[in-house]
Amino acid sequence: EDAELGEFEHYMLKEIHEQPTALENAFRGRLDLTEGTCKFGGLNLSRQDLRQIDRILIVACGTAWHSGLVGEYLIEKYARIPVEVEYASEFRYRNAPMDKNTLVIVISQSGETIDTLEAQREAQRKGYHVIGIINNVGSTIARENDGGIYQHSGPEIGVASTKAFTSQVLILSMLSCYLGRTRDLSYAEGCKMVKAIQELPALIKQSLSLADSIKAIAKDFAKYQDFLFLGRLEMFPIALEGALKLKEISYIHAEGYPSAEMKHGPIALISEECPSIVIVPDDETLKKNLSSVQEVRARKGKVIIITDSHDIPSSLADEIIIVPKAHNCIQPILMTIPTQLLSYYIAVELGKDVDKPRNLAKSVTVE
Ligand code: G6P
Repeated sequence: EDAELGEFEHYMLKEIHEQPTALENAFRGRLDLTEGTCKFGGLNLSRQDLRQIDRILIVACGTAWHSGLVGEYLIEKYARIPVEVEYASEFRYRNAPMDKNTLVIVISQSGETIDTLEAQREAQRKGYHVIGIINNVGSTIARENDGGIYQHSGPEIGVASTKAFTSQVLILSMLSCYLGRTRDLSYAEGCKMVKAIQELPALIKQSLSLADSIKAIAKDFAKYQDFLFLGRLEMFPIALEGALKLKEISYIHAEGYPSAEMKHGPIALISEECPSIVIVPDDETLKKNLSSVQEVRARKGKVIIITDSHDIPSSLADEIIIVPKAHNCIQPILMTIPTQLLSYYIAVELGKDVDKPRNLAKSVTVE
């Protein structure tokens, strides 16, 4: 095991640093700059099938469910197809009414999660075409579904998912481009997305170079028992995933919330003892997000901003982590990297068993 770890102290850290390669493997052979689109070999959907999809249902558990939520924002934005995201454990028992033109997408790193597998079987029993976004080639979910997209992330050993999550987000982003190009997405916009995806490995490397400064921030913040993670639109699921990562490996209580929804409850938690991590993309929501930051600070809450803007005055937050700026279709991935590093270094600071956190399993194969 030690040999496989190489220079890294834990698999989680190794897998965080593998992301430039893992994501390149996810898009290799799937980008088509001539047509301004993405392509997938194994969907088993005809051109006509594709045109007829008028609703998408994404079903998954845990971190994969969070990637599905990012997919909801991206597919609705670029392909204009309504998307819903369900927990597999809920979907399999609640007998949801479905339209005949619904495409079901299951997402699973392991391809063995029992609830996701049974949700897939339930959807197939009802006659739906189910495609999978799966990492583990030859797993049960991958063998049983009607087509799909392999992640090619390589084995993920750390219980806290990192590279599998970002590669699922990337695949959903590529799928939004592909579906969009069968509908209203223009050639020019498709080309912009494809070019942005080609740049991704280099941009992730730049984000990873923030590791030392994030380690220093983690030392200062490891003493807190409660954290809020805030984000809007496609950064909201990144906030949820950031909170989950911190909970999983450091056993610190953390909640992810849509930034403005904070006013409807979590604001009561804010004090000197409860810091907030606020994701602030440099877009039309920037001012709104900064006003959420001010609400936190007015209640003496410490704030770490994760942003791609260079124009936020340093006086507005306790720490500002700046990631590279990219096309919106990959920006959520770049915002994720600091949240992974922050959780990792906080857990290490607290002396936790990062790769094998208590009570958690890499894959939940029993109910
Ligand atoms: C477990 C793991 C999580 C994972 C979830 C779904 O809870 O600890 O990291 O997100 O299962 O796993 P899957 O293999 O279906 O993506």
